[in-house]
Amino acid sequence: MAESWIYRFFGGEDDFYGRAYDWMLDNGRTEREVELLLGLLKPEPGTHILDWVGGWGRHAVRLAQRGFKVTLLDFCPEYIEGAKAAAAQAGVEIATVCADFRETPASIQADYAINLFTAGLGYLTEEDDLIALRSLHAALKPKAKVLIDTMNLFWIVKNFRERMWEESSNGNARFLTEHRFDFWANRIHASVILQDLEKKAERTGEHNERIYSAADLARIMCAAGFKPVEIYGGLDGSPYSFDSKRLVMISVRP
Ligand SMILES: C[S@@+](CC[C@H](N)C(=O)[O-])C[C@H]1O[C@@H](n2cnc3c(N)ncnc32)[C@H](O)[C@@H]1O
Repeated sequence: MAESWIYRFFGGEDDFYGRAYDWMLDNGRTEREVELLLGLLKPEPGTHILDWVGGWGRHAVRLAQRGFKVTLLDFCPEYIEGAKAAAAQAGVEIATVCADFRETPASIQADYAINLFTAGLGYLTEEDDLIALRSLHAALKPKAKVLIDTMNLFWIVKNFRERMWEESSNGNARFLTEHRFDFWANRIHASVILQDLEKKAERTGEHNERIYSAADLARIMCAAGFKPVEIYGGLDGSPYSFDSKRLVMISVRP
């Protein structure tokens, strides 16, 4: 899998994802997500939360600010460095692990894990996801809860668009995304052109993800030793349906 798109898309000199998605750093959005996920997961105060595949720590730092013990795992060294700097600036401590999610260290022993914004799962093969989930299982305490937030296959299918224009929240960038759906694998392939309107520069990036149905995600969660217990259509706890943009699944590590 050394040739996978993940090694070109995240971090490195080009860092397509970091540049294209810096609108995610928008404080309002992340702040809201943290409030919603706390409302849904209801972690005991002061417990240990693993932000599994947590990028540059936009959720991790805010959870530490709310008094949780936080470990952030991501495979991208630049994002981990960014998270450390953000934590230092916020005056909080977070533990960081720069590792592939298939090698989540068993020593973490967290009470909760969160996996937000379609992170890691679906990027590689189902076997890779199973290996990753098994390593997550070993890194959690008995009775730990896991919240996974990912795309909803049914919404994607109902709202499928071959071409899509979007603009960044600050109006400085535009994205043209072309989508192709692989029906054999339930994988969505995206080619993105990012136009930097300030620098008048263009760059391109590609990514593809297998989109799990709730049933398929529940199946691999069970295969990894978890017990799926709740599904929602978003972090706001809305019911899961064909029209929910997201699939949020909470599972327990028995
Ligand atoms: C869509 S981002 C989501 C990050 C974070 N959860 C958030 O909401 O900001 C996906 C993240 O997956 C990380 N990633 C991709 N493949 C990975 C892997 N095999 N192991 C660990 N991290 C990985 C990337 O570095 C990136 O930070």
